[in-house]
Amino acid sequence: MTTPARDRLVFPLDVKELAEARTWIDRLAAHVGVFKVGLELFVSAGPDAVRAVHDRGARCFLDLKLHDIPATMAGATERAVAQGVAFLTVHASAGPRALRTVQDLAAGSRTQLLAVTVLTSFDAPELAAIGLDAPASAAARLAHVAVEAGVRGLVCSPEEASALRTIVGPGGVLMVPGVRPSGADRGDQRRVATPSSAIGAGADYLVVGRPIREAADPRAAADAIVDEIASALEARS
Ligand code: C5P
Repeated sequence: MTTPARDRLVFPLDVKELAEARTWIDRLAAHVGVFKVGLELFVSAGPDAVRAVHDRGARCFLDLKLHDIPATMAGATERAVAQGVAFLTVHASAGPRALRTVQDLAAGSRTQLLAVTVLTSFDAPELAAIGLDAPASAAARLAHVAVEAGVRGLVCSPEEASALRTIVGPGGVLMVPGVRPSGADRGDQRRVATPSSAIGAGADYLVVGRPIREAADPRAAADAIVDEIASALEARS
């Protein structure tokens, strides 16, 4: 069965405090499919933030971008899997052994691991400074590392979606931030795509924050994005 359009919209809880996160969860639980808990909220509120999402019947994307030795990543992954999160991010650059270890722990659970390849904040000179190639080739190489270790989910920019789809295959999962409905303010995102072009390029899930959070009517903004996702999915099938 294909995933309904609403379930593919991910709203990041980019706030400092649990109370504020709860307000957003209450406001949007019927309008988006997944809430993303990132480092800021997790450092502030811990697993209570995950529980707040689950208490409203929504799915949680725990975006902690784990990168450590295999044993430490395994411990953190076990805890996240036990909390029943739907998605958990790890860095592909943690390497094959760490990735295989965490994938073995997540296999058969309800948690889909997502590997982060190259953070989109990196430009070519910065990548060169840490010894990596140009963004596109570094992202492709790290995507291969993840997939070969069994991690069949990737976080990527809309621009990389079609290239990474060929690496992850039709059964893989692509989680795509940097999405802006046409006419919306780009904020600090430089490489952006509309929801329809991101879905058209092969994205499975879209992370959209500020265009919803800063809208006069956030629920209506989310609904409009879901409608656009639905039309793009129809066009894709
Ligand atoms: O507000 P906006 O839609 O830009 O939020 C996007 C979310 O996705 C933020 O939580 C941001 O940290 C995250 N993200 C991103 N670009 C990436 C990876 C994650 O914007 N490459």
